Amino acid sequence: MKKLHWAFIMDGNGRWASMRGMSRQKGHTEGVKTAHKVIDYCLNKGNIGVVSLYVFSTENWLRPPSEVNGLFKLAKEYLTDSDSFKQKGIKVVFSGERTNLSKELLDLMDSCALKTAQCNNLILNLCINYGGRTEIIRAAKMLKENQFDEVHFKKQMYQNLPYPDLILRTGGQMRLSNFMLFQAAYAELFFSDTLWPDISQTELDGILDAFNHRTRNFGKIRETNENQHV
Ligand code: IPE
Ligand code: IPE
Ligand code: MG
Repeated sequence: MKKLHWAFIMDGNGRWASMRGMSRQKGHTEGVKTAHKVIDYCLNKGNIGVVSLYVFSTENWLRPPSEVNGLFKLAKEYLTDSDSFKQKGIKVVFSGERTNLSKELLDLMDSCALKTAQCNNLILNLCINYGGRTEIIRAAKMLKENQFDEVHFKKQMYQNLPYPDLILRTGGQMRLSNFMLFQAAYAELFFSDTLWPDISQTELDGILDAFNHRTRNFGKIRETNENQHV
């Protein structure tokens, strides 16, 4: 059985907090708790092989420095407990530009990746300082003239992972915001109005169920398909 790659655009932390009269940072703290729950959910499903989380975009630097610092503080806390990833068999990998990240964060990222490199229950792809456009341009720069094809491009992405099968964006916006522009070509897109901290197992179950009922043609015509509408 081919395992699924589920990618998440975790949006809505700020609004979740503002609605409650709390600081945006509190929303991000809740967002981290939800990320833990979602990863455990995916781990327990058994048919999910890769989870990608959009943690920080190349455009998120445009936020006030206090918020940016707050987000990186949480990222560091999150990565400090690399033993818990290892215990759960989660292999942690990273996508994104290393430039502009602090040495402290880079060291934590490297040690987390190293410690969990042999784990094989789930791959957790954390997209930090990630932008799809930068990723594609970077790949193009690395390719030689005779390598301009999909296979070579894919190999030069930050991580050569199976393409995402599902992308869920929470928080009500219907856009990709520079996420996985190359890899998303045939992903099934899901958009939820639920703010990220409020995402529940029941909602995730519903999305997986809807995914299982979608017809994925990849450009072909399916001759026998009960879901096919004429
Ligand atoms: C989290 O949600 C996304 C990150 C950049 C971590 P937001 O911070 O964008 O929350 P909203 O969209 O302002 O509610
Ligand atoms: C996308 O959310 C980035 C992450 C979830 C990390 P944003 O809140 O930054 O996206 P826009 O600005 O609304 O498009
Ligand atoms: Mg947002």
